[in-house]
Amino acid sequence: MSETSLSYVSKQVLIPTEREKLFDQYKDLIETDHTLNRTLVSFQANKKEPFYRWFKYKEGFSKKLINYFIEKYHPSKGHILDPFAGSGATLFAAREKGWQSTGIELLPIGVFNVQARLAAEKVSLEEFKNEVSSFWNSFYKTSTTDSFIQHISITRGAFPEENEKNLNRYLICCKNIKNNSIRVLMEFAAFSVLEEISYTRKDGQYLRWDSRANRSNGNAEFNKGEIFDFILIVKEKIEEIIEDLSPNQNFDLFAPEETNIVMTDPKILKGSSLEILPNMSSNTFDFVMTSPPYCNRYDYTRTYALELIFLHNNDDDVKKLRQAMLTCTVENREKLNYLENLYKKLNRASDLDFINSIYFSHPAMSEINDVLSKLNELGKLNNSNIPRMVKNYFYEMVFVIFELHRLLKKDGIVVMVNDNVRYGGEEIPVDLILSDFAKIIGFKIKKIWTLPTGKGNSSQQMGTHGRSELRKCVYIWEK
Ligand SMILES: C[S@@+](CC[C@H](N)C(=O)[O-])C[C@H]1O[C@@H](n2cnc3c(N)ncnc32)[C@H](O)[C@@H]1O
Repeated sequence: MSETSLSYVSKQVLIPTEREKLFDQYKDLIETDHTLNRTLVSFQANKKEPFYRWFKYKEGFSKKLINYFIEKYHPSKGHILDPFAGSGATLFAAREKGWQSTGIELLPIGVFNVQARLAAEKVSLEEFKNEVSSFWNSFYKTSTTDSFIQHISITRGAFPEENEKNLNRYLICCKNIKNNSIRVLMEFAAFSVLEEISYTRKDGQYLRWDSRANRSNGNAEFNKGEIFDFILIVKEKIEEIIEDLSPNQNFDLFAPEETNIVMTDPKILKGSSLEILPNMSSNTFDFVMTSPPYCNRYDYTRTYALELIFLHNNDDDVKKLRQAMLTCTVENREKLNYLENLYKKLNRASDLDFINSIYFSHPAMSEINDVLSKLNELGKLNNSNIPRMVKNYFYEMVFVIFELHRLLKKDGIVVMVNDNVRYGGEEIPVDLILSDFAKIIGFKIKKIWTLPTGKGNSSQQMGTHGRSELRKCVYIWEK
């Protein structure tokens, strides 16, 4: 939307005063942390790190980021929670410091990642190497037409025929590996190369299809470059794993940071935080380090569709996972009734009332909901479900924040990474709204750290109504 149409809408609809008021209230807490460059915050910093480089979970935290915030806000060890654990980066980084760690993750992708890492710790390198060489002997002797990979509508045709045949053959041979940890690791090697051997690329919000797949999706011609041969690339992946598991003078993959630290296995709970958090005991955790899905339409179930079918999810499973995600896509339907029933079943109707009262009486939230529905009526949004997505994203986040507050011990800390978003020209200050919810719930808002943008500081940017760069933030809340 152009600046002209934005002011047109603002004049016709609502002047966004509530968001400005909120900004005034928090502006002194918003500060740029120059150590937080994009590389430190995201997976980029892990690209060459042992283990992290095996499977590229692009939404993952870097290990350095987790260490940075633990050291800054809670150097003494305790019990850490990540309710949106993804690849489990928080859990593993924290336990190397001697923390007890618990994660919740909805998608089986992250859960498998955690299991593979734990399996890697259990294998003996010699046994693994021996198994690998006998594996390839049996692989070349196996000819099978069985299909291990069962496609769903959004993945059909994703692999060149030869790659799919060899992938199936490989996975069938994996079934004969007796040692459970070695089998998991061998399967994980194949899991980690699915993108490279396919016609697809995880690209921003989408799974892009190469035009060689003959799967027209209305986009411009796209060529992803080399599509790797499955056998060659999985062998490379196995070599990488062996290299990382080999004794090396620079690092020990699974060693604690200091020799006197006792490491305990992280606990990963598979399912939705919206359902698991309310069932956990109060005052359990010392620290929460997390990054929920952003309110940005990113659909993990589509981007990671190949990995989901690898892990035996059928069409129905994938649709269910998509709906169970914290609302972050235009396809997510409302969970209001579901949450009401859940809280009533747990005899927590008064908590439900409190949560509802926070959400439904929040002036800036109501302003955003009003502006977006008006923009929708005017046809100014590029998808008519955006207002529903935004409304439900924040609604569900109140539940999450409420539960985090209940689960933390006194003085416990939340570190949350999230980005602001903009729809139809309207900025949605996710950082301010979530922090304000947190404050009403009882947290002290210690800081809203922003990533450096290179374009002046955030308060200067917010001063005008023009298009400012959206803040990418790390919020620090204390119980
Ligand atoms: C931004 S990513 C977090 C990545 C993580 N920090 C890491 O280092 O890998 C958000 C994660 O939340 C998960 N997720 C989405 N909805 C969820 C829900 N309702 N309950 C639990 N996890 C969910 C997604 O599958 C995704 O892995």
